[in-house]
Amino acid sequence: MRLTILGGGGFRVPLVYGALLADRGEGGVTEVVLHDLDAGRLSAITRVLAEQAAPVAGAPAVTATTDLDEALRGADFVFSAIRVGGLEGRANDERVALAEGVIGQETVGAGGIAYGLRTVPVAVDIARRVARLAPDAWVINFTNPAGLVTEAMSRHLGDRVIGICDSPVGLGRRIARVLGVKNPAEAWIDYVGLNHLGWVRGLRVGGRDELPRLLADPALLSSFEEGKLFGADWLRELGAVPNEYLHYYYFNRETLLAYQRAERTRGAFLRDQQAGFYDGMTDPQAQALAAWERTRAEREATYMSENRETAGAGERDADDLSGGYEKVALALMRAIARDERTTLILNVRNRHTLSALDTDAVIEVPCLVDANGAHPVAVDPLPGHATGLVCSVKAVEREVLAAAESGSRATALKAFALHPLVDSVNVARRLVEGYTAVHPGLAYLV
Ligand code: G6P
Ligand code: MN
Repeated sequence: MRLTILGGGGFRVPLVYGALLADRGEGGVTEVVLHDLDAGRLSAITRVLAEQAAPVAGAPAVTATTDLDEALRGADFVFSAIRVGGLEGRANDERVALAEGVIGQETVGAGGIAYGLRTVPVAVDIARRVARLAPDAWVINFTNPAGLVTEAMSRHLGDRVIGICDSPVGLGRRIARVLGVKNPAEAWIDYVGLNHLGWVRGLRVGGRDELPRLLADPALLSSFEEGKLFGADWLRELGAVPNEYLHYYYFNRETLLAYQRAERTRGAFLRDQQAGFYDGMTDPQAQALAAWERTRAEREATYMSENRETAGAGERDADDLSGGYEKVALALMRAIARDERTTLILNVRNRHTLSALDTDAVIEVPCLVDANGAHPVAVDPLPGHATGLVCSVKAVEREVLAAAESGSRATALKAFALHPLVDSVNVARRLVEGYTAVHPGLAYLV
């Protein structure tokens, strides 16, 4: 079975390969093809993977190429984990927005729109090529903003593209743990929304909803990351536990001030830190795996706490860290490839799950997965305030998709101006100016 990884020179690829090495059962991946536009990054990561594979008998063979079509031909699964514009682009997404007095973040608000505008055309090109060269392949989209990018690709690949994120399952596990649930993996997480914009409304164990017990207990509520982030009172008022990214909505002003005061944005920190790793790999004597491990440990020690004001950030334990992505991806791939029925929270087309959205809107929802793909399960409707947010952010995503398709700068402006975290049309105008000035990937907007 052949797995192609797009963005194969990316820093997190060894996490995916490590997970493959730990899962070499019948019907598993035998061949990994890495694709990247940057041959230097590709060779750095190939060296790390070779050191990972060395002590493992029957490790999946790894090849690397900068030719996209060659990488896609013959693929059974494609992991799309690209970052258009690199971490320099992420740092610019953050900086331009903050300078205009609005949240600059990888996936949320103005930063997420800018990232989406330059990523969608590339993702659509990939989807078209997959449809032509590997029509039976399953595409697992890691690329952020994951919901929007998955929706763009689904217009060409239908339900053969499935988007993933580690945050809903991570949140569910943290809730299960504070509640003392013996086997957190077996809890049913009642979660729905858009990617990075969803709510846990219940956590059922053995047929019983345990969430009310958490919401009624201030001590329990203040003992985990989201509890500290949002505060016990607000969670009780909401009657749900929001995804951590909703902090940018519910505590926008405080987050903005903290971000503006921070010495560096998260993107700038990661850009500098990872440049150190890739530069070091130009030395043919360098110990690739050890250097990668060191850089990874540093990154995780600062996980999301670099510029977040809350004490709770950075306090996660090992299995909650960003390393969760590869676990979700592997569980999904296994369920499809081996027809092992399971439920996972994934980004798929809505069908009739949320009645306020049309059937093609990609949402994040628990899905039943088997050899036929991912099927969203029926969930309770969202309350009005959540439906309102979901609908307005989806409307913004639709403007981004329209701008990417038409190349219309006016439509891109509409996307920024309609976002609930952009507070003036004039700000939106300056954002379009600012972003098109720094991002070569936005040159198509006229
Ligand atoms: C979580 C989110 C990802 C996001 C990442 C950022 O894992 O689910 O979508 O990319 O955090 O982590 P970073 O270390 O890059 O700031
Ligand atoms: Mn995510």
